[in-house]
Amino acid sequence: MQRTELLPPTDVWLLVRALPVPLQGATQRLADALAEIHGPRFAVWHTNEFVFGVHQGRLFLRTLGGAEVPAPKVVLIRQTPGSMHYDREVTLLRHLERMGATLVNPLAAHLLCRNKVWQTQELALAGLPVPDTLSYGTAPLEGVVRTTGLDTPCVVKSVTGHKGKQVFLAPDTHLLRGIAGALAQETPHLFQEYVSHSHGRDLRLIVVDGETVGAAVRTARNGGLASNIGQGGSATICPGEFPEAEALAVRAAEAMGLAIAGVDLLFASEDAFTVCEVNAVPGWRPQMTAVVPAVTACVGRRLKAADESAGRPLPEPTTP
Ligand SMILES: Nc1ncnc2c1ncn2[C@@H]1O[C@H](COP(=O)(O)OP(=O)(O)O)[C@@H](O)[C@H]1O
Ligand SMILES: [Mg+2]
Repeated sequence: MQRTELLPPTDVWLLVRALPVPLQGATQRLADALAEIHGPRFAVWHTNEFVFGVHQGRLFLRTLGGAEVPAPKVVLIRQTPGSMHYDREVTLLRHLERMGATLVNPLAAHLLCRNKVWQTQELALAGLPVPDTLSYGTAPLEGVVRTTGLDTPCVVKSVTGHKGKQVFLAPDTHLLRGIAGALAQETPHLFQEYVSHSHGRDLRLIVVDGETVGAAVRTARNGGLASNIGQGGSATICPGEFPEAEALAVRAAEAMGLAIAGVDLLFASEDAFTVCEVNAVPGWRPQMTAVVPAVTACVGRRLKAADESAGRPLPEPTTP
């Protein structure tokens, strides 16, 4: 192979999905804050800018243009795991991790979060409350919707859905069986206990390194089920208003191995919660001003640990 140009090392990366998708609000705010703190030690990369592999027994990473890219120390991932392909983005993340980079969140945690059934398995095993959930591997969907123990009304979700796009309420068995044929077959679905007290409403908590740093009650538009902002929902910021929910969110993030998490809780009653789902790449409202400093501090701690383990302590990053 031809000798290649070597790019100067950058220690902290923000890794975002393939171009030409522009940076979304929360991601742009993070990019600005990290650039301010780390200056030339920081870079934003898109997943489609690289080729990677092994050359003479050594793992390498290059730009498409052929420049050799030294592995970063810390990579903050800003692509939702549900939209990642195993043999594409996941392989790139794995390559970075095997080259010695610290991923935030760790790849194993992203993979856990990628599938809503994997999540409920982990949360239940950690002793955390989750709605009763039924799913399947290769059983035929037409048979699954007729199985005993599948009660209605129930909430139907794609196991890799996100942004409230593939979530709906099946009010009765007749309707559920009727629509089964219309559900996409490539990805399995799950059928979940309908938490009626929470209809059109959830509590979104942002957890960073074991602390809740953002909280909002989200309410659906027009009486719909899914309260996601992407579906037209509105958010009311409520830090400190639900301390038990904040503590539950911290435990949920911990059970999933996430340093940064967006935890969606359902209101089982006005003061009891159950975990709806955990997001590895959460968005948040601009009014949640504690989130960006918490994430940059989390990245700073990983960078410090990487520098220390390499035996090369570098100067503390300057705060803006
Ligand atoms: N079991 C349920 N009972 C009542 N509402 C639910 C239930 N599951 C989800 N929802 C509503 O739908 C929204 C989206 O569901 P969620 O599992 O978080 O999927 P997504 O990944 O698409 O955000 C939730 O925020 C909540 O408002
Ligand atoms: Mg959600």
